[in-house]
Amino acid sequence: MSKSLEVLFTPAEYNALSQRDLSDSLCVVFDILRATSTMVTALANGATAIIPVAEISEALAIRQRQPAVLLAGERDGMRIRAAQTGGIDFDLGNSPREYIRERVDGKTIVITTTNGTRALRACATAKKVLIGSFLNLRSIASWIRDQLPPHLLLVCSGTHEQAALEDTLAAGALCEKIWPHYALGRIADSAEISRRIYPLLQSDLYGAMRHSRNGQRLLANPALREDVRTCIQRETISLVAELCKDGMVKKLE
Ligand code: MLT
Repeated sequence: MSKSLEVLFTPAEYNALSQRDLSDSLCVVFDILRATSTMVTALANGATAIIPVAEISEALAIRQRQPAVLLAGERDGMRIRAAQTGGIDFDLGNSPREYIRERVDGKTIVITTTNGTRALRACATAKKVLIGSFLNLRSIASWIRDQLPPHLLLVCSGTHEQAALEDTLAAGALCEKIWPHYALGRIADSAEISRRIYPLLQSDLYGAMRHSRNGQRLLANPALREDVRTCIQRETISLVAELCKDGMVKKLE
């Protein structure tokens, strides 16, 4: 079967995925700052599963049914507080630095973030959906090289309704790692664009984050600033995470 490789840069593109047949596609979803980096970190530190949900009310409903779950996520980048939920403070925000083993080992975490959750949901009909981050990119690339899925769609969560530099760079880094296996197939210009941008900025990803809207937002907040450095670390985690058909994100065994 001929192969294809494409990158989606914006929410408008992934929102249109409902019109496409994804039954033979592997999607890798990137929300580098910060949702997918946080999910990968949580699993690396022993979390059993993560349930991404769109609304705070969905998270609260799950907690009612399963009191042991941790509630996590952000609105405007900050942890969700009692005033936003009608009385319940969320246990965790969306900072990977909070997801230490002491907090998350053996736990199921319900998380609600903005773009990251939206992008994951948009890919729900794909044959497989992987959670992308710089932290575990080598593991993802090696899984793809082993499995060689015919149609590969790298989905950038973006910032509000726009493209995000950090997600585009991560997609480009993954393109670079798997290029020889797809180069003879149908390569979308979007894959070509991201692959060509990554080498220009890879030696100073932190500097590049000063030019990203999400990066600027986090760097301007003393409590969140360090998340930028954490999320652009490369190859610190060796696992592959997938969004399973039951809606849970788990380590791929
Ligand atoms: C999102 O899901 O839009 C982001 O992860 C937001 C954030 O940085 O908390």
